[in-house]
Amino acid sequence: MTDPFSEKLQAWQQYTRTPWARIRYAVVAEILRREASTLGAGLRVLDVGGGDGMDALPLARAGHDVTIVDPSESWLAEAQRRARAEATTISTIRGGLDDLPEGEWDLVLCHFVLRYRPADGGDIPALARRVRRGGRLSVMDVNPAGRVLRTVVSDGPAAAMAELQADTLAVHTFNTEVRKVEADRISDEARAAGLVQVGHYGNRIANDLLVDDLPKHDESYFDDLLALELELSGREPFNRIGFAWQLVFAR
Ligand SMILES: C[S@@+](CC[C@H](N)C(=O)[O-])C[C@H]1O[C@@H](n2cnc3c(N)ncnc32)[C@H](O)[C@@H]1O
Repeated sequence: MTDPFSEKLQAWQQYTRTPWARIRYAVVAEILRREASTLGAGLRVLDVGGGDGMDALPLARAGHDVTIVDPSESWLAEAQRRARAEATTISTIRGGLDDLPEGEWDLVLCHFVLRYRPADGGDIPALARRVRRGGRLSVMDVNPAGRVLRTVVSDGPAAAMAELQADTLAVHTFNTEVRKVEADRISDEARAAGLVQVGHYGNRIANDLLVDDLPKHDESYFDDLLALELELSGREPFNRIGFAWQLVFAR
């Protein structure tokens, strides 16, 4: 299995320390906290493509039994290092969507991985099979429509038109182009795999319209922005225009 992510870990961690990445993770942590609370305590959680543990660690901290499966050894090592630093525990498995561990979990995550995968690769049915009956699957990826709106405010209409018409999306941190993954398509695939959609969230909705990043480093401004993001994330029509979409399904 190729691992183009390992050498980009440092650039990735620079991104995850930014205020906008902190917003992305805080909103998801809150959505997953709510979902987990409906399922109970001590849940078995599988984070597919969970990388360095940014989504997994808050769940481990909350007392859940968390396993990350990811092809990148260095990212998994970083997840383990962070878990130790927080005196919490996670399990890691080197692997990926092509060789998922057998079994069923209460909560399965697959965040920002599908865009690196072929469109018809059968990933959603494979993920659905890892969810126990009554459990949840959370899928997340970049929202192509959100990228167009972000581009119009940052770079103007011609750049936004090019973004709209492009077949692929640029991922600057990893210096690569990926496929556009539409939330509606994932909803259809999940439904066909026997899942029921229970949540459609947006992420970085207000943040990406605020092109001046400087105020976001001020803690009180950051708190206001995060409070707004949390309020907007599950509301129509705001949930359709953020940097990313997050869909939650029940099996
Ligand atoms: C952009 S990072 C996202 C990490 C994490 N899910 C998050 O949202 O913070 C993409 C992750 O997908 C992993 N990945 C790449 N190919 C994969 C595959 N075939 N199966 C599972 N994970 C994969 C990478 O190693 C990397 O950790």
